Amino acid sequence: MAKRTTTFVCQACGAVYTRWQGKCDACGEWNTIAEEASPLASAPAAQRPGRKGRLVALETLAGGSADAPRTPSGIHELDRVTGGGFVRGSVILIGGDPGIGKSTLLIQAAAAMAGRGERVVYVSGEEATGQVRLRAERLGLAGAKVALAAETNVEDILATLSDDPPPRLAVIDSIQTMWTDAVDSAPGTVAQVRGSAQALIRYAKTSGAAVILVGHVTKDGQIAGPRVVEHMVDAVLSFEGEGGHHFRILRALKNRFGPTDEIGVFEMTGRGLAEVANPSELFLSERDLGAPGTAVFAGMEGTRPLLVEIQALVAPSPLGTPRRAVVGWDSNRLAMVIAVLEAHCGVRLGQHDVYLNVAGGLRIGEPAADLAAAAALVSSLTGAALPADAVYFGEVSLSGAIRPVAHAAARLKEAMKLGFKRAVCPEGGREPVEPGLALAATGALAGLVADIAAEAPRRERREDPRREREESPRRERKDDPRRERNEPPRRESPDRPPAVTSRRQDG
Ligand code: TYD
Ligand code: MG
Repeated sequence: MAKRTTTFVCQACGAVYTRWQGKCDACGEWNTIAEEASPLASAPAAQRPGRKGRLVALETLAGGSADAPRTPSGIHELDRVTGGGFVRGSVILIGGDPGIGKSTLLIQAAAAMAGRGERVVYVSGEEATGQVRLRAERLGLAGAKVALAAETNVEDILATLSDDPPPRLAVIDSIQTMWTDAVDSAPGTVAQVRGSAQALIRYAKTSGAAVILVGHVTKDGQIAGPRVVEHMVDAVLSFEGEGGHHFRILRALKNRFGPTDEIGVFEMTGRGLAEVANPSELFLSERDLGAPGTAVFAGMEGTRPLLVEIQALVAPSPLGTPRRAVVGWDSNRLAMVIAVLEAHCGVRLGQHDVYLNVAGGLRIGEPAADLAAAAALVSSLTGAALPADAVYFGEVSLSGAIRPVAHAAARLKEAMKLGFKRAVCPEGGREPVEPGLALAATGALAGLVADIAAEAPRRERREDPRREREESPRRERKDDPRRERNEPPRRESPDRPPAVTSRRQDG
């Protein structure tokens, strides 16, 4: 039977088709499908029917295999994310945007390990050895005994590595530049990336060396190349950062030998990446004290508490359907918090644009941020700044109740350490209370909203000139599109009902 010898593979996601087409059905990208030799055609298993299997020794779970031997890199923030160091024979894929600092991080880790007498090999497929050396010099690591090579052929790399006792760590920068003789398509194609990764992973498993593969990231944040590489490796780390910010976050997306909720925080300096031992201080360092619309959230990242500022902007919307934009948090949770504010707290946001931002480019996944987000929203809407010495945490339920969250003690302790005096948090926690930190335990969101709104009129009576300036152009807006279209003005005129009506008295 004649076998098809070519297939068509999407270069963005690795989906396989039997015919060419313009758009990949799997990932939606255009013009990413390219012709490749079918792996089936050369698969040796297909040509060796009836091979008798080799006997494999079976062991018991209780058997005395030593704990996965780890080699710490010596960079604590990196070790925190990997789970205590590189496990022998494991393969780690590190992805991140170009220029984020992957090569810098890895040359620093390699130098730190080599400094402790471990054998470390750094293979660069992107830079010449001179360039790598130049960078190391700038980082003050020129004396480190890292074995360097600039090579892209996997067979040559493996021959070089196998010539000596296996290194403790081999860094391959990057997997997209590698190519293997076993696959005849161009470097950078899915087949080459897959083939090269397979060969390097096989080397790691047989030699016991830890291998780090650097992977490029596509514009929507996926590690380019087939997803199968992510499934083949033991851990996938992602190195993230916002343009314009100098700090970087290392996050584990998958980890067979450690946690996936820990983050490592670094700061890019003129002399490479510096570890940030206390990230809360960094994330709160540029705080705009006294401005309405900001709340400090006492969060957790893995086992470490992390204080971060949540900023909200609520402004009357010129659009029929107001905008809701959120950076660093889940937009569904924002929608939920807005719905709860409207349904249970008398807050009207239906004609307001809402923007929510987590300061410093951090991404928060915790529901515990609900309360801080709600406080920031109400503060922005009413123009009443929240107390600068208060932190907020708690999950908001659809009924408007505030539910307890895990690790309250650790959150309070961190707030205390950073000089905060008050914590607004769920009631009913049996956690020990920090001395010197006043707890404002809240059972319902409506209570908190009423407290914030109670601050607002007092400020207005003081005739803050800034408020006057902000308010006046809105009342007599000449360029109102509705006016030009002869439409009746929206109920936003001075006789508009207050945006927040306190429900406390009714209840
Ligand atoms: P690099 O490690 O080459 O990024 P990647 O390998 O992820 O593409 O980092 C390059 C960026 O880091 C570059 O924009 C300059 C910056 N950088 C510093 O700010 N300080 C330094 O000491 C070094 C080495 C790089
Ligand atoms: Mg690089």
